[in-house]
Amino acid sequence: MAYTSQAGRTPMNARLVVIASSVEDLRDKLNQWITLGKNKDIHPGAGPAELNDVFYGNIREVQYNAGDLIEGPAGKAFLADLLANNDLEKLARLWILGVEIDWSLLRRDTVPRKISLPTYPFAKERYWVRTDQQALASRAVQKNVLDTRRVTARERTEEKRKTYYASQWTLRSIAVPKEKPAVGPMLMLDVSDELFLTMKEQLQNASCSDPIVLVKPGKSFQEIGPNIYIIDPEREEHFHELIQNLKGKALLPRVILHHCSEVCNLEVKEQVTQHLNNGVYELFYLSKALMKEKQQVPLRFLSVLSSHSEGTTPLGTALGGFFKTLTLENPRYLAKVVDVQSGSGNEEMPLSEKANLVWEEIYEEDWTAQEIRYRNYMDEGKQGQARYISQLVSHTPVERELSALPLKQNNVYLITGGLGGLGLIFAEYLAKKFQSKLVLVGRSVPGVKQEEKLRQLKGHGAEILVVQADISKWEDTERVVREARARFSEINGVIHAAGVNRDSFIFNKTSEEMKAVLASKIYGTINLDVATGEEKLDFFVLFSSIAGVMGNLGQSDYAYGNHFLDSFAETRETLRKAEKRSGRTVSIDWPLWDEGGMRISKDDIALLEKQVGLSPLPTQDGIQYWEDFLRSNGAQGIALYGTPSKIAASIAQKQVVAHKNVAAPAASIDAAVLFARQVSCWPDQCRSRSGRALPLLLSRCLQEGPTESLEGCRSSRRIADGARLRSESPSPALRAEGR
Ligand SMILES: NC(=O)c1ccc[n+]([C@@H]2O[C@H](COP(=O)([O-])OP(=O)(O)OC[C@H]3O[C@@H](n4cnc5c(N)ncnc54)[C@H](OP(=O)(O)O)[C@@H]3O)[C@@H](O)[C@H]2O)c1
Repeated sequence: MAYTSQAGRTPMNARLVVIASSVEDLRDKLNQWITLGKNKDIHPGAGPAELNDVFYGNIREVQYNAGDLIEGPAGKAFLADLLANNDLEKLARLWILGVEIDWSLLRRDTVPRKISLPTYPFAKERYWVRTDQQALASRAVQKNVLDTRRVTARERTEEKRKTYYASQWTLRSIAVPKEKPAVGPMLMLDVSDELFLTMKEQLQNASCSDPIVLVKPGKSFQEIGPNIYIIDPEREEHFHELIQNLKGKALLPRVILHHCSEVCNLEVKEQVTQHLNNGVYELFYLSKALMKEKQQVPLRFLSVLSSHSEGTTPLGTALGGFFKTLTLENPRYLAKVVDVQSGSGNEEMPLSEKANLVWEEIYEEDWTAQEIRYRNYMDEGKQGQARYISQLVSHTPVERELSALPLKQNNVYLITGGLGGLGLIFAEYLAKKFQSKLVLVGRSVPGVKQEEKLRQLKGHGAEILVVQADISKWEDTERVVREARARFSEINGVIHAAGVNRDSFIFNKTSEEMKAVLASKIYGTINLDVATGEEKLDFFVLFSSIAGVMGNLGQSDYAYGNHFLDSFAETRETLRKAEKRSGRTVSIDWPLWDEGGMRISKDDIALLEKQVGLSPLPTQDGIQYWEDFLRSNGAQGIALYGTPSKIAASIAQKQVVAHKNVAAPAASIDAAVLFARQVSCWPDQCRSRSGRALPLLLSRCLQEGPTESLEGCRSSRRIADGARLRSESPSPALRAEGR
């Protein structure tokens, strides 16, 4: 039986090895393993194996594929030695980490042969292949119904609870077709023409005729050479002019290559502004101009950035959040960010090598991964580059691995957005539990309800300082820190919870809306970090959103801003390890809180739970997440509350659909919130009573493109405006922000 499953079956991602001496022994160990999984109330095997001779692993969840680590002659010899010596334990450990093992070489007492084992219990339902659209649609519906039935049955036994996710970098090589296909006209956004010239030369050498157009930043709109333009990246109308110009020459792009090799010094405001202009704003204006063109061909966006030494480049990597939203809003678009690490002396990769890497990424067959990293490694004295992709993986915090909570009685904590929904929840928690000295920062004067809350906080033994300040302005941030020190002499921890959103599709979004959202998330974060750079902090926590890691319909700017917080946390951790900052940095990607500043209707919540499995986070669970993330050692914590199997299914679906040009239903809570809002703005005839047709309808609308299809439902402008109107209306907190 063992030999048949070793030699006669294709190894799966989830792998279990039981070393057993008899069938009885095997039965006992399997039973024990199942019981252990049940008792832990986790998916069996989600934690480390704790039974002797039983090994479990999922190669999708391991950080490094051990197969890659033991490649080469030395690795092969090592494996051969283990097989010859019948070292079952080591073989088991390697196999569950993804190592390919030729089991026929295993030393055995007898010569085994394959036997016939029971097959899977097939449902025996017929699915004839038909090619007409009707058949495809009905099959999709049947499958949905079956999937829903299966999930619903499991859900009945499953309680809503906290699940913990993290972004994990997994080694993944690139798959490029042997025959390079034509890519169509390419539009390149770059500040210099070096990479453009190299890539053009490589195309000519390969006798390819795909045209490349270069667009550089300048102060006017001008074609300064054949297919070389300058454009003012701050003027949206220049992008429309450019697209019209290219259209006239039949050069509307099929690939957008955004290249940025300069690393931004975040402490220099002018550099930050320039990077935003030549990055997210440029891509925003360009995609808007292309959408207005109603160009219905697939379009690929690739952003290539350089990061130095071990640090990331947060303004660049945050484009992952923008791209995830862009591809949600426009399922004909594919997009990815590729972060290439420079050499150990921060020298740039040679241009021809970089051009090759870029071509490979363009030609890649599977554009599922939207965030990619190349990192240096040394192999026998030679430097190579390993390619990693970012994936969302779930994990369970293990109590014994958590450190002590870095909170102390009577310490001083600064909360930006301190008078907002979450700001006040955390102020209350700190007041009640630690009688803290609190510095609460917001732009507005506290209202009547907030004044009442402040009185209650003082009643719990807290000392409160309210500072009216705009954290996106350096002078204000500096003043906040000065006033806090003057009153309390020190600051022990920071919670950055200031934030606003201005939801609308990229198609309708204005640069003013984007600027409002990025103000506190980008400039606010940097200002706060620099202004507290000298403080002896115990923690520096950023309140981010799951929109940053999953994208979010209507929240391209908010997703970018929150992804920035996640990447910034990683960068700040590098500074902390170099003793340039103190206090652990953690970016927490929150879902919708039950009692936060953002509220939605009961109907919308029901829809959200049904479609994605996410439920509003109860305050107590939110506090538990906060404590767990503060006690763990990651720079990012992703909090998803709801029905675990449904959440996992949504995430898995999201991670595989991107390249198929199929609209994923809203899979993040913020995305789902907006989705629910949009749906509730649709005319009644577009809704189904059961709600089951809604994602199909949304996906159809999205597949057909933002302009025509949404007009088909009614009008894209009205839907997007409707979403905006609704988001302005319900909660006082939202009104205060003008959302
Ligand atoms: N609530 C949720 O469900 C949820 C989910 C995911 C992520 N988050 C994140 O968690 C944070 C807090 O959310 P919340 O629900 O508490 O939102 P909220 O109730 O709207 O509070 C945000 C606060 O930030 C303040 N603020 C905005 N811009 C500022 C600036 N430039 N300088 C100083 N203060 C500023 C606002 O006050 P003024 O307008 O008076 O300045 C407001 O009181 C946000 O960053 C949000 O992105 C929340």
